Amino acid sequence: MTTRARELQAQGINVIAFAAGEPDFNTPSPICEAAKKAIDDGHTKYGPSRGFPALRNAIVEKVARENKFQTDLNQIVVSCGAKHSLYNTFRVLLDPGDEVILLAPYWMTYKDQVLLSGGVPVTVHTDSSNNFSLDVNAVKAAITPKTKAIVVNSPCNPTGTAFTRQEIKELAALAIKHNLWIVSDEIYEHLTYNHEHTSVATLGKEVAERTITILGCSKSYAMTGWRIGFSIAPPEITSAMANFQDQVTSNATSIAQYAAVAALNLNPEIIEGMRSEFEARKDLGLEIIHSIPGVKAADPKGAFYFFIDIREHLGGDCPDDLALAEKLLDQAHIATVPGSVFEADGFLRLSYACSRAELTEGLNRLKGALTS
Ligand SMILES: Cc1ncc(COP(=O)(O)O)c(C=O)c1O
Repeated sequence: MTTRARELQAQGINVIAFAAGEPDFNTPSPICEAAKKAIDDGHTKYGPSRGFPALRNAIVEKVARENKFQTDLNQIVVSCGAKHSLYNTFRVLLDPGDEVILLAPYWMTYKDQVLLSGGVPVTVHTDSSNNFSLDVNAVKAAITPKTKAIVVNSPCNPTGTAFTRQEIKELAALAIKHNLWIVSDEIYEHLTYNHEHTSVATLGKEVAERTITILGCSKSYAMTGWRIGFSIAPPEITSAMANFQDQVTSNATSIAQYAAVAALNLNPEIIEGMRSEFEARKDLGLEIIHSIPGVKAADPKGAFYFFIDIREHLGGDCPDDLALAEKLLDQAHIATVPGSVFEADGFLRLSYACSRAELTEGLNRLKGALTS
């Protein structure tokens, strides 16, 4: 949808892009300055596959300070984005035929990476009428002797749901009981609204020993193009991930790693500035969405997406969410992502990583299109 939106924009059409999954802010200047300094200081050569010690040390400190668990240099691999960290994880964890539980709606990359790694994705649906909250019994019912891991993504792309500490505890207990790995993608950890983020690995040694935590710079520090993500896992898994990465990309870009050190030590007020702007946009957008007849939307607890239920508007020449998304793009010039790509038919994902003016204009176009 983003590509098609760009094509229309190239034709001079004013398209409001609700499809992109990245902050619209520029990377904060202290991070850019650190990258320039890294070039001037000659940090332009190969480095260790796991990442420079300077960055891994900064990660150890950041995790103790913010995520509230202890880790060590030998538990960290720095990669080319969290997506890469996830791919290392699945390649290392899975043997052919191993099942991985995904909680739908989920970010579609998980499914494809599991398949690319020879695994079998198993979907457990969460309920929109219950704000997509975790149903531990449904997860339990999906466990088989072949289940190897469960993916947790809190705060979640696309729904904006974030799990409570209690929900995560229940899931962790299940993982311990059935000897499962937990892949905890916490890339949106800083972008929460009236919600306190809980890292899975804080729940004690027994949980941490079966958890691979995925973090990164893309969303929290507006650094999507710099491609820095990292994993925190038990040492033997980390060694295997480092060996695998060594044969695929070697290290993540050296200059971006030094920029990431600056990101992890950034003045928290800068991060809070971006978070609070997202929160203001969320509140503004939600008010308009709630005024559209036949559209339901939960109040997101994190990330920067509305996941709206448009099932009442389907039918006729718009039988499904894909048809509606295409029509909205062609006729109202708003780019959205159909829910079916996240295994949630009848929904649309709208990113509010755009200016307040664009948000208001785009949502009013949506309202006009759906009510006309
Ligand atoms: C849930 C989730 N995890 C991971 C990523 C990937 O982040 P990165 O840009 O660091 O690869 C994204 C990006 O959209 C995401 O939404």
